[in-house]
Amino acid sequence: MRKKIVAGNWKMNMELADGLKFAEAIDTYFKSKPSRAEVILCTPFIHLAGASEILKSGKVCLGAQNCSSETSGAYTGEVSAAMIKSTGAQYVIIGHSERRSYYHEDDKLLNKKTILAIASGLKVIFCCGEVQKERESEKHFEVVRKQIGDGLFNLPPDEFKNIVIAYEPVWAIGTGLTATPDQAQEIHNFIRGLISDKYGKEIAEDLTILYGGSCKPSNAIEIFSKPDVDGGLIGGASLKKEDFTAIVEAI
Ligand code: PGA
Repeated sequence: MRKKIVAGNWKMNMELADGLKFAEAIDTYFKSKPSRAEVILCTPFIHLAGASEILKSGKVCLGAQNCSSETSGAYTGEVSAAMIKSTGAQYVIIGHSERRSYYHEDDKLLNKKTILAIASGLKVIFCCGEVQKERESEKHFEVVRKQIGDGLFNLPPDEFKNIVIAYEPVWAIGTGLTATPDQAQEIHNFIRGLISDKYGKEIAEDLTILYGGSCKPSNAIEIFSKPDVDGGLIGGASLKKEDFTAIVEAI
């Protein structure tokens, strides 16, 4: 059975002390109420080393939100995948729509980051999803096919096993709009089909595919009940303990 995952994407929120306090609260919660889903906190870089200490019992996993496309050296301001791994983090988000749009990260660059992250021993939460115009002109399948093909399909099957895909329609991120459970199921099923065509049925069946975009306690159960939706990548609602834990429990 494939793994269910709920990952919180804190984005650029919380100063050091607040973030560590929050990580501790989440850890304490899941120590006393273990979850069926794997729970991941994707924090800003500055929290990683401290959060890794706090989360060392392993009830809650840790991830970064980005990594450099280079291994090391004179790249002022960058943080490498190996550095992230050295904090004790297990995951990194790559290709979030905010990175694609605000920082102009294209499929080629994201592919380079993905390869490096896996080589450094990290698992990758690889994001894809269309903008509103593309959905309205029914290009969403095409867009997602290209993002996944160009971002991931030069990985050998053994490396692809380190990938989690997050489908996040850009029009639903932070907007309060959510894909309907049927819309999510339709495209998650399409994504699993792409993976099956490329890597075979077994790898496709084992792949965890997350939904992201205004996921909250009130819609999580319905979205997660779809057969190809294996959990969520949660932005805004991951910053409130009650909301985040309720979404994890929706699994
Ligand atoms: P949201 O963000 O839950 O605030 O819509 C999701 C994401 O961007 O990962």
